[in-house]
Parts: sequence; C-alpha cells; structure tokens
Amino acid sequence: MFFTSDNASGGAPEIMAAIARANEGYARSYGADAIMDRVRAEIRRVFEAPEAAVFLVATGTVANSLSLAIHAPPWSAVFAHGEAHIAMDECGAPEFYTHGAKLIAVEGAHGRMTPETLSAALSRVGEAGVHGVQRGMVSITNVTEAGTVYTAAEVAALTAVARVQGLPCHLDGARFANALVATGATAAEMSWKAGIDVLSFGGTKNGCLGVEAVVIFDPAKAWEFELRRKRGGHLFSKHRFLSAQMEAYLADGLWLRLAAHANAMTARLREGLLAVEGVSLTHPAEANILFPEWPAGTHARLEAAGAAYYPFPAPEGREAARLVTSWSTTEAEVDRFLAALRG
Ligand SMILES: Cc1ncc(COP(=O)(O)O)c(C=O)c1O
Repeated sequence: MFFTSDNASGGAPEIMAAIARANEGYARSYGADAIMDRVRAEIRRVFEAPEAAVFLVATGTVANSLSLAIHAPPWSAVFAHGEAHIAMDECGAPEFYTHGAKLIAVEGAHGRMTPETLSAALSRVGEAGVHGVQRGMVSITNVTEAGTVYTAAEVAALTAVARVQGLPCHLDGARFANALVATGATAAEMSWKAGIDVLSFGGTKNGCLGVEAVVIFDPAKAWEFELRRKRGGHLFSKHRFLSAQMEAYLADGLWLRLAAHANAMTARLREGLLAVEGVSLTHPAEANILFPEWPAGTHARLEAAGAAYYPFPAPEGREAARLVTSWSTTEAEVDRFLAALRG
C-alpha cells in the first residue's frame, strides 16, 4: 500500500531486461550509441514528427529546465500554473538553467490554467518596456499536479493564446503516457498538433529507472539544446543505458500499457473511496493521482494498517492526502487500503 509517488515504484521487468541486454560488450558513448539511433527514429514515428530532435536526460527537472532554457531568454517571463512542478518542486532549476527567466504564476482551479487566466497573466507582464521582464514562453503540465488532465483541445486553446503573443510553448509530460491514456489522444495530437514546441516526455514515473526524452519540434533548437545539456552536466557518458530504457519503454506499446494500469488502479481507488461515507475528493481524479479528504483520525488507522502516502493540509475536523498509483500498484493493495479505510 505504497501510494507516496509513482516514482516510488521500481523498474518494470521489460526495462530491467533491456538494461541488462545493453550491458553486453561495448557501445559508443555520449549518445552516439546505436540504440539511441533507434530511439530517435521510434519517437519520430510515434509523434508523427520526422524532423523532431530527440534527446535523453535522467531527470524531469533537467528535461523541463533545458526545454525552457532553449526558448526563454534571461530577461523573459515563463508563464505556468502556480502549482506547476517547475514553480514549486525544482529548487529554482528553471531559473538557473535559463539564467534568470522569471516564473509567473497563472491561476486556475484543479491545477489547470484556462485561456482566460493565461490571457490575464500575459496582459500583466511585458508592458513596462525595458524596466520589466518580457513575455517569454508558456509551460503547461499534463497530467497536472492536481491529478487532472487537459484534453488535446484544451492544450491547443492555451497555446493559441500564447501564439497571439508569438510565444513558444512547453509541455511538462512527466506523466504524458497517463494523459494520453486518460484522453485517448495520440502523442502528436497532445503535442505539436496542439501547438507544443518542446515536450518533456516522461519515462521514470512509469516504469523506467531514470530517463526522460526531450522532444523538440523545431530542429533549429537542437544544437543549442545539446550544448546546454553538456554544459549543464547532463550528457551521460554511458548513454546506452538511458537509450535502452527508452527503447524498451516504447516497444510494443509498453509505455501506454503501464500507464493504463496506473490509471485503472486510481479509478478503482476512486470508486472505493467515494463509496465510503465522509470521504470526498478535492480534485477530480482523472489519471493516476487522487486527493481524498476524510474525517480526522483516519490517517492513524491507515498508517497502523501499513499504508504510505503524503498527508495534505485539510480543514478543521478533516484530514487530506495525496495518493499516487503506478504501473506496479496491485488490485490487492488497493483493496486492502479500502478495507483499512472502512475500518
Ligand atoms: C509534473 C512533474 N514534472 C516533472 C517531474 C520530474 O521531476 P524529477 O526531477 O524528480 O525527475 C515530476 C516529479 O515529481 C513531476 O511530478
């Protein structure tokens, strides 16, 4: 009953086997490995983007930060939801890698910006001439930090607002597979067809050990990305082990199968939770994250039963939590959790 995070899970067997296979013999280093050639071709095929530049890194933070750095100059503003991972959980790495671009918080219920809230934020910035930061780019997270999901059309509506100002758009897809499974969109529909210029395409939370792809739909930015990745200390020498993870992740739709399982486990939890009197959800649980609220005293009972998750602030007399399911969550774990909840 380990629901703290999807990156608390291990590596999927297919990923571990691919790493072991890649360990045979020698391979070119620093991304010149043959597996990376296949990964690049496969990502271009999956995204229907034959020109896209594809790079691998080992953390979501650096995937996001370098993606922002190739588009947002130091004197610019990056617009993102106030709860976005880049704003709350990356220790200033986006500001560091962009050499000081300013993050501007955009409002919106349940972790989602709307065209209206984005427009309002854009209109408050960039009018002060040389005295203020200039509008730089927009960053959207899907699945959001609140566990909600933007449809491809909703992403397109946000990028359309950005496009009016000539701003490029980034998508933080640490849980991109979960968002696709939840909406039924294709990878292309949820990215470049919706106006996304650069995507952080997550693997780590969904069965990989540590790999994220950065997919850059404007190949003119590729060389700058390469230089920034190296300068930032994130070009792996034994890169084949990143490539091997991504290759296995994409093979035979494994990435979508793992995400479908994670989402199904959240759906099972949601159904069970809502059947218990006094339990409610703070946000709609649309992918693999839930934010339940329950009567005070419940944490102690769940903890005693061996459940692990993050408690969240709650109103007087109530308790709240964040639960995350992953590719390795089992139905039995979910059912034991619900039984413990019911007492
Ligand atoms: C929305 C989002 N983006 C990016 C990341 C990646 O972060 P990390 O640098 O820990 O791999 C996370 C991980 O928690 C996340 O939730």
